[in-house]
This record gives sequence, C-alpha cells and structure tokens, in this order.
Amino acid sequence: MKILVTGGTGYIGSHTVVELQQEGLDVVIVDNLSNSTKDVIYGIEKITGTRPVLEVFDLCDINLTRQLFQKHPDIRAVVHFAAYKSVGESVKEPLRYYHNNILSSINLLKGMMDSGVDHLVFSSSCTVYGQPDKLPVTEEAPLKRPESPYGNTKKVMEDIISDTVSSSGLKAILLRYFNPIGAHESAEIGESPTGIPDNLVPYITQTAIGKRDHLRVFGDDYDTPDGTPIRDYIHVVDLAKAHVVALKRLVDKKNKKDCEVFNLGTGRGYSVLEAIKAFEKVSGGKLNYKIVDRRPGDIVKVWADTKLANRELGWKSGKGLEVMMRTAWNWELKLAGKF
Ligand code: UFG
Repeated sequence: MKILVTGGTGYIGSHTVVELQQEGLDVVIVDNLSNSTKDVIYGIEKITGTRPVLEVFDLCDINLTRQLFQKHPDIRAVVHFAAYKSVGESVKEPLRYYHNNILSSINLLKGMMDSGVDHLVFSSSCTVYGQPDKLPVTEEAPLKRPESPYGNTKKVMEDIISDTVSSSGLKAILLRYFNPIGAHESAEIGESPTGIPDNLVPYITQTAIGKRDHLRVFGDDYDTPDGTPIRDYIHVVDLAKAHVVALKRLVDKKNKKDCEVFNLGTGRGYSVLEAIKAFEKVSGGKLNYKIVDRRPGDIVKVWADTKLANRELGWKSGKGLEVMMRTAWNWELKLAGKF
C-alpha cells in the first residue's frame, strides 16, 4: 500500500514518514522544500533503511498535483501536512498564508477525488479551540476564532474537508495537535526552523548551543501557578505514531464516522518555566533567559482531554517531558556536529 505524505520533509511529516515505513508502508513525499531540505530523506533512510520517494513541487499547481496521482496510481491514502506554519509570519502576510495553505489543500482534494483516493489524515491544531472555557479540552469544545491567520487556515481546512466528506466518498480523520516538540532518538531527523524560531523549544536549544543570546520568556504574570503559560507538550514521535494508527483505521474501515476528530496531546500541561527546568536537567547547564512582556495572542493555558484518542485509536502518548527535551537537545547537538 502506498501512502502520499505532503510536507513529508518537514518536522512532523518526516517523523511520520519514519513510522509509516517502519510499519512496512511505501511512502511518496510531496514537498516544495520551502521550509525544509532534501537532506531529510537521507536522515529518514538512515533510520529505516529505505529512502522515500520525494517529488519536489508545489501543490498550489493543480496540473502538477493531478500528474502526481497519475504517476502513482497505487496511492491509497494521504497524510496532509504541507502548509506554512509560522503564527507571526501569518499575521504579517495573511494573504500568502491563505493562498498557500488553502489552495494547496483544495488542489490535493481535487487530485484525490479525480483519482478515487478516499482516505485522508489531516494535520490540524488545538489552535481551533482558542482559549478553551473548560480544561482539559475535549473534541466537543466549541471552536473559537483562532488567534492568527495561520490558525484560521487550519479551521477553514477542517471545514473544507468536512464539507468534501459530506459530498463525496472521502473519509477523513482530523488530528488536532497540541504542542509537538522533541526529535527522533537517533538524532537523524528533528525540527529545523529557518531563521529565528517562533516556538519555545527550538529557541531554548538554540540559546543553549550559543546561536541565540538568551530566551525571552513572554510574561510571568498570567493566572497560572508560576505565572507563565501552560501547554500540553507532546513528543513528535508519539504524535507521528498516531498518524499511522489513524491511517490504518481509515483503510481498515474501522472509523465510526466519515469525518472523525481526535486531540493528540499527553493530557498534562507544563508551564514555560517547568519546560526550561526540564531542559536544564537533561542538558546539565543553566539556560540564559529573561522575563519580558507578554506575547500578543498567547493562550494562557491549554491541555488536551485525550480519552477519545486513547479509546478509539488505542493510542497513548508515552514519552515524558525530559525525553522530549533530551531528544530536542541531542538534535541541536547533532546539527552542531557535537552528537
Ligand atoms: N514562549 C516563550 N518564548 C519564546 C517562545 C515561546 O516564552 O521565545 C512561550 C510562549 O509564550 C508560550 C509557550 O512558550 O507560552 C509555547 O509557545 P510556542 O510558540 O512554542 O507554542 P504556541 O502554543 O504559542 O503555538 C503552538 C504552535 C502553533 C499553534 C498553537 C496552537 O506553534 O502552530 O500551538 O495553540 F497554532
């Protein structure tokens, strides 16, 4: 069975390709390499022994998208990651974000419909819940307008997929990620943000390695035990494994609805200062950080109710915060030639 993974050289995509291949599945990656490099497929090959097929083009091109399905008629299912993902950038350039994320997804769906490929796993985000009224947040929680155009593209895509499911034979699973961090144990693949990282953990590791002077902690006056915001950090390999399970559920027709939604988190929240402490413990050094003003748009606290994913997918996250930090740190060391 051949699986198409869009954005398969990206951070979560590459870890998912590894897990798919380790389950014996054939993978074709589509990526325009706008935020990743071709080298990722060699990292994947080192881990799994198999180099995935990589097709480099932009899904915003409908002709190339259709040709892809003609070239690989044995594709049975799609895992769709390809998207721009910087919250800050999306606020500055909303049209670029809407154009890229929505058009590429529409083209992908058209290509799938034309070729009779009717299984889709979609990479969504807990950003669709905004600041939830109740914690932990369940899949039933009301959706709020996401804080950024990036977040809104995820919400709009969920709607487009769900409408397409209602009007066709498409079956989909929407996976709402909490905060994926960490890297593969082998340190052959990991997160490689271009430019200055937006996210906490790459900023921490880049500070510790000396690429950044200090981490700015955005606010310590929130209504949380230590005043810093709380997130549900989840190891990227745990997250990747959930995609394999979701895909099999669709292909084996075990899904209970044509469009299902699952939260992917650990169910446990950690503050920014707790995350820094866990990093300091595994790296053995003090992190240079300063408390600064709040970052506009930040959610105060969010963590997942994971019961639905635990029960229906038979999936549970296993790796704790220290493993997440250790693997993220090893990856940074590897990039610096020190691992
Ligand atoms: N933080 C800092 N300093 C930094 C970076 C982050 O203090 O340099 C803090 C943030 O204020 C926040 C926490 O670390 O409290 C986590 O921030 P991230 O940027 O790592 O993650 P977010 O929860 O803000 O955003 C993530 C994804 C988005 C997604 C969102 C959904 O990056 O793509 O979760 O809630 F939309």
